[in-house]
Amino acid sequence: MTTLGKTGNTSDIGATFSLDGVDVLFEPGETILQAARRAGRYIPHLCWHPDFHAQGSCRVCTVKVKGRAGSACTLHAAAGEVVESNTDELNAERKMLLQMLFVEGNHFCPSCEKSGNCLLQATAYEMKMEDVLFEEFYPLRPIDASHADVMIDFNRCILCELCVRAGHDVDAKDVFAIAGHGIGTHLVVNSMSGKLVDTDMALADRAASICPVGAILPKRRGFVIPIGERRYDPHTAADPDMQEAS
Ligand code: SF4
Ligand code: FES
Repeated sequence: MTTLGKTGNTSDIGATFSLDGVDVLFEPGETILQAARRAGRYIPHLCWHPDFHAQGSCRVCTVKVKGRAGSACTLHAAAGEVVESNTDELNAERKMLLQMLFVEGNHFCPSCEKSGNCLLQATAYEMKMEDVLFEEFYPLRPIDASHADVMIDFNRCILCELCVRAGHDVDAKDVFAIAGHGIGTHLVVNSMSGKLVDTDMALADRAASICPVGAILPKRRGFVIPIGERRYDPHTAADPDMQEAS
């Protein structure tokens, strides 16, 4: 009989689950995504990062367990479970999520400093996204370049909340927060003026470098790393050591 690993049950030691027909060993308490990554297996993801608690918001990591859909980054691995991830159906849904993200913001890769280092772009390549399918929103959100060393372009934010988690858990500064709800959900800067210049954010902060897309960028570093030598130029998002954001 299988044993659930939700609380890190020691009877799960040495237990495996099946991921797309291949057995994956997991440690007690691990999520499906954590175990898959440790085994060198790729499950597409955007809002997950190994250094932070799972957010479970982007849904790009959606897998099927016993036919039911769930987020691999939040579902705990369980012994004997049968997990489907790399299927035409799930990859088509992931592609559609990516297409929606691309039209919701302004992701103009050829002119973006993050191109080649961007998890959104790399995942879109991985899911074989060749068009955006939907009509672009072309939002007109602010670009905050008020800070001496860091800028943020809200038009590129995919609301992964990694900067929120990094700012809270590592920097202990809470520079960023999420406001609104539903379609009005958006990222805000925690200062009276709403500007980065009026926060105590520093270039060395984890929140300044964690953004998986080109929303938060260091200033005066444009194209320091040439095109062709960037993170995802020689690798794909699916390469085992590439399976995380910056
Ligand atoms: Fe994520 Fe970047 Fe938006 Fe922060 S600014 S929520 S890290 S996409
Ligand atoms: Fe799992 Fe975003 S919901 S990576």
